[in-house]
Amino acid sequence: MNQIRIAPSILAWDLGDLERAVQISVEGNADQLHLDVIDGHFAPNITFGPGTVKALRRRTDLKFDTHLMIDNPQLYVEKFLDAGSDLLSFHAEVLSGRTFDEIHSAVASRGKEVGLAIKPATPLPGWASERLDRISTLVVMTVNPGFSGQTMDMSVMPKLEMLSGLVKERGLKTDIEIDGGVEPENVREVVKRGANVLVAGAGVYAKDDPVGAIATLRRQAESVRGQG
Ligand code: DX5
Ligand code: ZN
Repeated sequence: MNQIRIAPSILAWDLGDLERAVQISVEGNADQLHLDVIDGHFAPNITFGPGTVKALRRRTDLKFDTHLMIDNPQLYVEKFLDAGSDLLSFHAEVLSGRTFDEIHSAVASRGKEVGLAIKPATPLPGWASERLDRISTLVVMTVNPGFSGQTMDMSVMPKLEMLSGLVKERGLKTDIEIDGGVEPENVREVVKRGANVLVAGAGVYAKDDPVGAIATLRRQAESVRGQG
């Protein structure tokens, strides 16, 4: 079973003080930092780009989990790799088997990982199922892309269960990442259905003790595992 990983999403912090957002994740022993890139086309918000990712890269060695919520992501692969992303996740809604293959070779040739993200209402496309062995992380979104602080959409649970079953059935090592509305109260629901990477924006950065919140999420997730 893949280990539990906690991925705080800096979108929930003060965007004028991202250095502190990084420090909190380092102090809390987060496993990776989730960086939400939104272009105002794919989703209704505009966040930051490769320049910000690069600036943050100078401040930490944490694994960078860059979630690209943008149209034409193939145009930006090199820029985000140069900026220091370790895992680059692309949305299935804007890819095809052919563009995935191009992106995958570009990312893999730099020794980095490709993730595939799907919105709550998007099923795993056939082309993606055929390529699952090349996807290091399946990002199962439990809110519509755009903003931190939304409530987890529980109607995604059957899909989550189906996807983690598929990964297991095929004997793959694919991480299953949940993105959207993760809070200590719903960690059990997602971990028991096979999620092992937990993105948390408000679930970390909107808490009074954000450093401690990282450990709380980890403890909750690991206790679900302990119960078998
Ligand atoms: C939404 C982003 C999420 C978001 C998570 O577009 O992809 O990563 O920041 O934030 P919370 O955990 O607050 O839903
Ligand atoms: Zn995200």
